[in-house]
Amino acid sequence: MASPILEVRGTDVFYGASQILFGIDLSVGRGQTMALLGRNGAGKSTTFKAIAGIAPPRRGQVMLSGTSLAGKAPYLVARAGVGYVPEDRQVFPEHTVEDNLIVGAKAGPRGDRHWTTERIYEVFPILAGMRRRMAGRLSGGEQQMLTIARTLMGNPDILLLDEPSEGLAPLIVQAIGALIRQLREMGVTILIAEQNMHFCLGVATHAAVIDKGQVVYSDTIEALRGDDAVRQRYLAV
Ligand SMILES: Nc1ncnc2c1ncn2[C@@H]1O[C@H](COP(=O)(O)OP(=O)(O)O)[C@@H](O)[C@H]1O
Ligand SMILES: [Mg+2]
Repeated sequence: MASPILEVRGTDVFYGASQILFGIDLSVGRGQTMALLGRNGAGKSTTFKAIAGIAPPRRGQVMLSGTSLAGKAPYLVARAGVGYVPEDRQVFPEHTVEDNLIVGAKAGPRGDRHWTTERIYEVFPILAGMRRRMAGRLSGGEQQMLTIARTLMGNPDILLLDEPSEGLAPLIVQAIGALIRQLREMGVTILIAEQNMHFCLGVATHAAVIDKGQVVYSDTIEALRGDDAVRQRYLAV
Protein backbone atom coordinates (compact mmCIF):
# COMPACT_ATOMS: atom_id res chain seq x y z
CA MET A 1 0.00 0.00 0.00
CA ALA A 2 1.21 3.54 -0.72
CA SER A 3 1.82 5.68 2.36
CA PRO A 4 -1.43 5.99 4.30
CA ILE A 5 -3.43 9.21 4.45
CA LEU A 6 -4.16 8.69 8.12
CA GLU A 7 -2.07 6.77 10.57
CA VAL A 8 -2.79 6.43 14.28
CA ARG A 9 0.09 4.83 16.16
CA GLY A 10 0.15 3.59 19.73
CA THR A 11 -2.34 6.18 20.90
CA ASP A 12 -3.42 6.41 24.55
CA VAL A 13 -6.20 8.79 25.58
CA PHE A 14 -7.30 9.63 29.10
CA TYR A 15 -10.34 11.49 30.36
CA GLY A 16 -9.00 12.82 33.66
CA ALA A 17 -7.57 9.83 35.51
CA SER A 18 -9.38 7.17 33.47
CA GLN A 19 -7.63 5.68 30.49
CA ILE A 20 -10.05 5.21 27.57
CA LEU A 21 -7.76 4.24 24.65
CA PHE A 22 -4.87 1.81 24.94
CA GLY A 23 -2.31 1.94 22.16
CA ILE A 24 -4.72 2.43 19.23
CA ASP A 25 -3.17 1.65 15.82
CA LEU A 26 -5.07 2.44 12.61
CA SER A 27 -3.95 3.00 9.06
CA VAL A 28 -6.24 4.32 6.33
CA GLY A 29 -4.95 4.30 2.76
CA ARG A 30 -5.93 6.72 0.02
CA GLY A 31 -9.35 5.92 -1.40
CA GLN A 32 -10.21 3.39 1.27
CA THR A 33 -13.42 3.40 3.26
CA MET A 34 -12.50 1.99 6.64
CA ALA A 35 -15.11 1.01 9.19
CA LEU A 36 -14.16 1.39 12.83
CA LEU A 37 -16.56 -1.07 14.40
CA GLY A 38 -17.28 -1.66 18.04
CA ARG A 39 -19.98 -1.81 20.66
CA ASN A 40 -21.32 1.20 22.50
CA GLY A 41 -18.58 2.51 24.81
CA ALA A 42 -15.75 0.71 22.99
CA GLY A 43 -13.90 3.98 22.25
CA LYS A 44 -14.90 4.83 18.66
CA SER A 45 -15.85 8.45 19.30
CA THR A 46 -12.83 8.97 21.55
CA THR A 47 -10.60 7.71 18.73
CA PHE A 48 -12.18 10.28 16.41
CA LYS A 49 -11.75 13.01 19.03
CA ALA A 50 -8.09 12.03 19.39
CA ILE A 51 -7.62 12.39 15.61
CA ALA A 52 -9.54 15.67 15.49
CA GLY A 53 -7.49 17.25 18.30
CA ILE A 54 -10.42 17.40 20.74
CA ALA A 55 -9.08 14.66 23.06
CA PRO A 56 -5.32 14.97 22.58
CA PRO A 57 -3.44 11.68 23.03
CA ARG A 58 -1.18 11.35 26.06
CA ARG A 59 1.00 8.93 24.14
CA GLY A 60 1.36 7.95 20.49
CA GLN A 61 1.05 9.71 17.18
CA VAL A 62 -1.56 10.78 14.69
CA MET A 63 -0.09 11.35 11.23
CA LEU A 64 -1.87 12.87 8.23
CA SER A 65 -0.06 12.12 4.96
CA GLY A 66 3.13 11.63 6.96
CA THR A 67 2.85 14.87 8.98
CA SER A 68 2.24 14.77 12.71
CA LEU A 69 -0.93 16.37 14.05
CA ALA A 70 0.45 16.33 17.61
CA GLY A 71 -0.54 19.34 19.65
CA LYS A 72 -2.63 20.92 16.89
CA ALA A 73 -5.87 22.61 17.94
CA PRO A 74 -9.03 21.22 16.29
CA TYR A 75 -9.28 24.07 13.75
CA LEU A 76 -5.70 23.41 12.65
CA VAL A 77 -6.39 19.68 12.32
CA ALA A 78 -9.36 20.61 10.12
CA ARG A 79 -7.18 22.96 8.08
CA ALA A 80 -4.60 20.18 7.69
CA GLY A 81 -7.25 18.10 5.90
CA VAL A 82 -9.32 16.17 8.45
CA GLY A 83 -13.06 16.55 7.83
CA TYR A 84 -14.73 15.46 11.06
CA VAL A 85 -18.50 14.88 11.26
CA PRO A 86 -19.29 14.35 14.96
CA GLU A 87 -22.01 12.11 16.33
CA ASP A 88 -24.46 14.93 17.00
CA ARG A 89 -24.40 16.18 13.38
CA GLN A 90 -25.01 19.84 14.16
CA VAL A 91 -26.44 22.10 11.49
CA PHE A 92 -27.16 25.81 11.86
CA PRO A 93 -30.94 25.43 12.19
CA GLU A 94 -31.86 29.06 11.51
CA HIS A 95 -29.86 29.23 8.30
CA THR A 96 -30.68 27.83 4.89
CA VAL A 97 -29.22 24.63 3.53
CA GLU A 98 -27.10 26.68 1.13
CA ASP A 99 -25.79 28.96 3.87
CA ASN A 100 -24.86 25.87 5.90
CA LEU A 101 -22.82 24.68 2.92
CA ILE A 102 -21.17 28.06 2.38
CA VAL A 103 -20.15 28.22 6.04
CA GLY A 104 -18.20 24.98 5.52
CA ALA A 105 -16.37 26.17 2.41
CA LYS A 106 -12.61 26.38 2.58
CA ALA A 107 -9.67 25.41 0.42
CA GLY A 108 -8.14 22.01 1.03
CA PRO A 109 -4.66 21.59 2.50
CA ARG A 110 -3.03 22.16 -0.91
CA GLY A 111 -5.26 25.05 -1.87
CA ASP A 112 -7.68 22.91 -3.88
CA ARG A 113 -11.32 23.88 -4.15
CA HIS A 114 -12.72 20.74 -5.67
CA TRP A 115 -16.03 20.93 -3.82
CA THR A 116 -18.38 23.78 -4.65
CA THR A 117 -22.10 24.12 -3.93
CA GLU A 118 -22.78 23.13 -7.58
CA ARG A 119 -20.80 19.92 -7.16
CA ILE A 120 -22.47 19.18 -3.85
CA TYR A 121 -25.90 19.54 -5.47
CA GLU A 122 -24.89 17.07 -8.19
CA VAL A 123 -23.88 14.48 -5.61
CA PHE A 124 -26.66 15.34 -3.12
CA PRO A 125 -29.66 16.11 -5.37
CA ILE A 126 -31.94 16.00 -2.35
CA LEU A 127 -30.15 19.07 -0.97
CA ALA A 128 -30.46 20.90 -4.28
CA GLY A 129 -34.23 20.82 -3.94
CA MET A 130 -33.99 22.26 -0.42
CA ARG A 131 -31.34 24.89 -0.83
CA ARG A 132 -33.56 27.72 0.46
CA ARG A 133 -35.05 25.71 3.31
CA MET A 134 -34.01 26.34 6.92
CA ALA A 135 -31.72 23.53 8.00
CA GLY A 136 -33.66 23.14 11.25
CA ARG A 137 -36.67 21.99 9.22
CA LEU A 138 -34.83 19.06 7.63
CA SER A 139 -35.36 15.48 8.81
CA GLY A 140 -32.62 13.70 10.74
CA GLY A 141 -31.42 11.92 7.62
CA GLU A 142 -31.39 15.13 5.58
CA GLN A 143 -29.43 16.86 8.35
CA GLN A 144 -26.93 13.99 8.31
CA MET A 145 -26.50 14.48 4.56
CA LEU A 146 -26.14 18.22 5.05
CA THR A 147 -23.39 17.82 7.66
CA ILE A 148 -21.51 15.40 5.40
CA ALA A 149 -21.91 17.83 2.49
CA ARG A 150 -20.84 20.82 4.59
CA THR A 151 -17.72 18.95 5.70
CA LEU A 152 -16.87 18.06 2.08
CA MET A 153 -17.08 21.79 1.28
CA GLY A 154 -13.87 22.10 3.33
CA ASN A 155 -12.08 19.85 0.77
CA PRO A 156 -10.69 17.42 3.34
CA ASP A 157 -8.17 14.68 2.58
CA ILE A 158 -10.14 12.31 4.79
CA LEU A 159 -13.74 12.31 5.99
CA LEU A 160 -14.44 11.02 9.52
CA LEU A 161 -18.09 10.03 10.01
CA ASP A 162 -19.13 9.19 13.57
CA GLU A 163 -22.13 6.81 13.46
CA PRO A 164 -23.80 8.24 10.36
CA SER A 165 -26.59 5.63 10.52
CA GLU A 166 -27.44 6.18 14.18
CA GLY A 167 -31.08 6.86 14.95
CA LEU A 168 -32.19 6.92 11.31
CA ALA A 169 -34.97 4.89 9.71
CA PRO A 170 -33.89 1.93 7.55
CA LEU A 171 -34.68 3.63 4.24
CA ILE A 172 -32.65 6.68 5.20
CA VAL A 173 -29.79 4.46 6.35
CA GLN A 174 -29.83 2.89 2.88
CA ALA A 175 -29.68 6.32 1.27
CA ILE A 176 -26.72 7.32 3.47
CA GLY A 177 -25.04 4.02 2.54
CA ALA A 178 -25.54 4.68 -1.16
CA LEU A 179 -24.10 8.16 -0.72
CA ILE A 180 -20.99 6.85 1.07
CA ARG A 181 -20.46 4.28 -1.71
CA GLN A 182 -20.75 7.05 -4.28
CA LEU A 183 -18.18 9.18 -2.43
CA ARG A 184 -15.90 6.15 -2.26
CA GLU A 185 -16.23 5.66 -6.02
CA MET A 186 -15.28 9.32 -6.44
CA GLY A 187 -12.06 8.58 -4.54
CA VAL A 188 -12.90 10.20 -1.18
CA THR A 189 -11.02 8.57 1.73
CA ILE A 190 -13.41 7.80 4.58
CA LEU A 191 -13.23 6.50 8.15
CA ILE A 192 -16.64 5.56 9.60
CA ALA A 193 -17.30 4.72 13.25
CA GLU A 194 -20.26 2.37 13.52
CA GLN A 195 -22.00 -0.15 15.73
CA ASN A 196 -24.06 -1.23 12.75
CA MET A 197 -21.96 -3.94 11.14
CA HIS A 198 -24.46 -4.71 8.38
CA PHE A 199 -24.34 -1.11 7.27
CA CYS A 200 -20.52 -1.26 7.10
CA LEU A 201 -20.43 -4.55 5.23
CA GLY A 202 -22.25 -2.75 2.44
CA VAL A 203 -20.11 0.39 2.28
CA ALA A 204 -16.59 -0.23 3.61
CA THR A 205 -13.48 -1.66 1.94
CA HIS A 206 -11.62 -2.27 5.21
CA ALA A 207 -12.54 -2.78 8.84
CA ALA A 208 -10.96 -2.37 12.24
CA VAL A 209 -12.69 -3.60 15.38
CA ILE A 210 -12.26 -1.75 18.67
CA ASP A 211 -13.10 -3.26 22.03
CA LYS A 212 -12.46 -1.74 25.48
CA GLY A 213 -10.22 0.91 23.97
CA GLN A 214 -8.04 -1.46 21.94
CA VAL A 215 -7.98 -2.42 18.29
CA VAL A 216 -8.56 -6.18 18.31
CA TYR A 217 -8.87 -6.80 14.57
CA SER A 218 -7.94 -5.09 11.32
CA ASP A 219 -8.38 -6.49 7.81
CA THR A 220 -10.39 -6.11 4.63
CA ILE A 221 -14.17 -6.03 4.86
CA GLU A 222 -14.32 -9.37 3.00
CA ALA A 223 -12.11 -10.96 5.64
CA LEU A 224 -14.39 -9.66 8.40
CA ARG A 225 -17.45 -10.91 6.54
CA GLY A 226 -15.94 -14.39 6.56
CA ASP A 227 -14.81 -14.29 10.20
CA ASP A 228 -17.78 -15.47 12.28
CA ALA A 229 -15.70 -15.76 15.46
CA VAL A 230 -14.59 -12.10 15.47
CA ARG A 231 -18.04 -10.85 14.54
CA GLN A 232 -19.69 -12.87 17.30
CA ARG A 233 -17.12 -12.07 19.93
CA TYR A 234 -16.92 -8.32 19.43
CA LEU A 235 -19.91 -7.20 17.40
CA ALA A 236 -22.89 -9.43 18.11
CA VAL A 237 -25.66 -7.54 19.87
N1 LIG B 1 -16.09 13.02 28.48
C1 LIG B 1 -15.89 11.81 29.02
N2 LIG B 1 -15.42 11.68 30.29
C2 LIG B 1 -15.22 10.47 30.85
N3 LIG B 1 -15.45 9.30 30.22
C3 LIG B 1 -15.91 9.36 28.97
C4 LIG B 1 -16.16 10.60 28.29
N4 LIG B 1 -16.62 10.33 27.05
C5 LIG B 1 -16.65 8.99 26.93
N5 LIG B 1 -16.23 8.41 28.07
C6 LIG B 1 -16.09 6.97 28.30
O1 LIG B 1 -15.14 6.49 27.36
C7 LIG B 1 -15.50 5.22 26.90
C8 LIG B 1 -15.53 5.24 25.39
O2 LIG B 1 -16.55 6.12 24.94
P1 LIG B 1 -16.77 6.46 23.40
O3 LIG B 1 -15.46 6.75 22.79
O4 LIG B 1 -17.83 7.50 23.35
O5 LIG B 1 -17.30 5.05 22.85
P2 LIG B 1 -18.13 4.71 21.53
O6 LIG B 1 -18.10 5.89 20.64
O7 LIG B 1 -17.44 3.51 20.98
O8 LIG B 1 -19.52 4.38 21.99
C9 LIG B 1 -16.83 4.88 27.53
O9 LIG B 1 -16.59 4.05 28.65
C10 LIG B 1 -17.35 6.21 27.97
O10 LIG B 1 -18.16 6.08 29.11
MG1 LIG C 1 -19.62 7.00 19.82
